Amino acid sequence: MIDQQTINQIFDTADIVEVISDFVTLKKSGANYKGLSPFSNEKTPSFMVSPSKGIFKDFSSGKGGNVVGFLMEHEKLSYPEALRYLAQRYNIAIEEKELTADEIQQRNERESLMAVTAFATSYFVSQLDSDEGRAIGLAYFRNRGFRDDILKKFELGYSPEKWTAFTEEAGKNGYKKSYLLKTGLSIERDNNTMFDRFAERVIFPIHSLSGNVIGFGGRTLKSDKKTAKYLNSPESDIYHKSRVLYGLFQAKKTIVSDERCFLVEGYTDVISMHQAGIENVVASSGTALTTEQIRLIKRFTQNVTILYDGDEAGIKASFRGIDMILEEGMNVKVVMLPQGEDPDSYAQSHSSSEFLEYIKTSAKDFISFKTEILLVEAQHDPIKRAQLITDIVRSVSVIPDGIMRSVFLKESSLLLGVEEQVLYNEVNKIRRSKQEQQWRREQSGRQVRQEAPTTMPRQPVVPGFVENIYSEVEEREIIYFLLKFGNLKLHFSGEKQAEISVAQYIIREIQNDELEFTNLVYNQIFENVKDLIERGDEVAERYFVYHDHAGVRELAVDIFTSRYELSKVWKRKEAYVELPGENLGFEVPKSLLSYKMMVIEKALSILRKELEESEKKQDIEALNQVIVRIQSLERVRRELSIGLGGRAIIR
Ligand code: CTP
Ligand code: MN
Repeated sequence: MIDQQTINQIFDTADIVEVISDFVTLKKSGANYKGLSPFSNEKTPSFMVSPSKGIFKDFSSGKGGNVVGFLMEHEKLSYPEALRYLAQRYNIAIEEKELTADEIQQRNERESLMAVTAFATSYFVSQLDSDEGRAIGLAYFRNRGFRDDILKKFELGYSPEKWTAFTEEAGKNGYKKSYLLKTGLSIERDNNTMFDRFAERVIFPIHSLSGNVIGFGGRTLKSDKKTAKYLNSPESDIYHKSRVLYGLFQAKKTIVSDERCFLVEGYTDVISMHQAGIENVVASSGTALTTEQIRLIKRFTQNVTILYDGDEAGIKASFRGIDMILEEGMNVKVVMLPQGEDPDSYAQSHSSSEFLEYIKTSAKDFISFKTEILLVEAQHDPIKRAQLITDIVRSVSVIPDGIMRSVFLKESSLLLGVEEQVLYNEVNKIRRSKQEQQWRREQSGRQVRQEAPTTMPRQPVVPGFVENIYSEVEEREIIYFLLKFGNLKLHFSGEKQAEISVAQYIIREIQNDELEFTNLVYNQIFENVKDLIERGDEVAERYFVYHDHAGVRELAVDIFTSRYELSKVWKRKEAYVELPGENLGFEVPKSLLSYKMMVIEKALSILRKELEESEKKQDIEALNQVIVRIQSLERVRRELSIGLGGRAIIR
C-alpha cells in the first residue's frame, strides 16, 4: 500500500503533458495541447490535454481523466502500478504501509525470486555476445531470421554448453542457492552439486504483465528425438504457467488499439509475427489454454482470433479453445493456415500485408469453421451428422449472452439445414441440465430470483474511530463471496457500462472504510486477494487450496467444495433459501452492509458503556466526545438500514 501523503506528492509532481508526451506527440494549441488519439485510429487530432486542469480528454473515444487514469488506460496498469510508474519517473520515494512479518517475508521472497530471474535474463542475453554464444545461439536466431531489434524486444538469450556456467556466475554474484532452485534455473543433484537447467539452449524469457521476467523457455539446438525440444521453468511463487500468456506484455498495447488478440501455439510464432509487424499476438506456451489465460486476454479485448496449424492436432486444440473463449462471453474467430505451415513459417515467408490479407480472407466465425471441418466427415453419414449438430449446439449453449446465442443459432440453422426452433430447444436443454448440475453441487433448495438493484451507489462509510470489532459471521460471509465469486463481474447500470469484479468491489468498500477483519484467517485471505488483484491476477482456487496457512487452506476447501454452511444471512423465515451467487449484484453489497451494520452495532454498545462511565466520572470532555461519536454512528446506522431494505432497526 502506498500511503496517502505519497500519493498526493505524486499527483502534485507529475506533469500530465510531460507524462503523456512519452506516448503521444502533442502540439500546443492555445492553453492546451492536442494530438492524435492513442485510443483510436484517427487522422485529425481530437485528443486534448489541459495542463492547467491536469486532465486529458479524448473526443474520439470519449475517454478522459487525470495522469494516473491515462497510464491505467493506455499502459493497462493498475492504480498502484500507475502510481509506482510515476514515482519512479519523478524520483519520489514510496512509503509503503507497514506490513506484517508474514507479508514482508512473502514479498521479500517474491522480490528475491524476481531478482534472480532478472539477473538470469541479462546473463543469458549477454551470452549471445560471447564467442560460444555468437557461434551457436546467435547463429541459430539469425538462421531463423530473427532481427536484432526483435532479439532485444523479447530479451532472447543463450545458456552455454558448460553445465554449471550460469549457476556459478549467479553464485559469484551473491544469489542464494535456494532462490536458484526455487526459480528452477538451477537443479540440485543427489550429491549436492548444482547444474543449469537450461544449459546448451537458446532462451525465451517469459514476462509478467508488467514486464518482469518470471520464467523461461529453453529450446534445444539438437535435433535428436531424445532431448525435449523445449524445457520450461517449473511453477514457482512468481511463475504460474496457467496464468501467463507468452508475449502479452509486448502485445497488450496493440491488442487494445487493434481491438483483437491473435492466439498462437508457440514462442516462435509470437516472435515471427511481431517481426512481421503483427504485434497483437500471444501464445499459451507450454500448457493447454486455460480459462485464466482467456480472462487475461479479456482485460484487453473481447475479440480473439485463433491461428493454429492446419493439422489434426491444431484443429483439436482450436476446438477446445473455441468453447472456452465462448464461455467467457467473448467473440472468437479461427484461421486455419495452409497445410504444413505454422504462423512462424507463414510470417517468415510472407510480407505482413500478405499475412494480414490471408487472415482477413480466411478467418471464420466458429460456427462456419466447425461446420466446414465436420461436414467433410459427416457428409453422407447421418449418425456423424447428428453428432455434428450436437457438437455445434453444445458450443452455442456455453455462450452466456442470450442474444448472441440466438444470432448463432440462426446461422447454424442455415448452415446445417436444421430448423431453428429445434436447435433452440436443444440449447435450452443443455443449459438447463448444466444449471441443475450446478445447483445440485451448490446446495438443494428452491430457486428464487430477486431483482438486483439497478444502481449500486457507494455505501455508507464506517467512521475511522471504529476499530477492532469482532464480527465472525459477517466477516466469513464476505470472505465467502470474495473467494467463491471474486472473479465475477458486477455491473453498474448507473454509470456508463461500468464493470467491477466482486473482489474489487469488496476490497474497495473495506479499504475505503479502513475496516480490518479481526479473524486472522479471514484477514489473511483478504490481504492475499488484495495482493492478487493488485498484481492483476485472478482469485485462483489453487492459490488458497494450497496455501501455507492451514486455517486458510481448510476454509478455502470448504468454500470451494460447498461444504461451507450458509449462515443466517441466507436463511430466511420464508420457506425457501436463495442460493448465493444467483444475484450477486444484490448479495455482495448486502453482505457488506450487514457487516458494517454489525460493526456499527457493536461499536455503539461499547460507546454506550463509555457514556455511562464518563457520566459517572463527570468527565465532560470524554462525555462530549462519546456523544458526538454515538450521534455519528447512529447516522451511519440509519443509512445502512436503508441500504439493507429500509426496515428500521428496533432494539
Ligand atoms: N512446447 C513445450 N515443450 C515441448 C514442445 C513444445 O513447452 N517439448 C511448447 C512451446 O511453448 C512451443 C509450443 O509448445 O513454443 C509449440 O510447440 P512447437 O510447435 O513444437 O514449437 P515451436 O514454437 O514451433 O518451435 P520451433 O519453431 O522452434 O520448432
Ligand atoms: Mn515452429
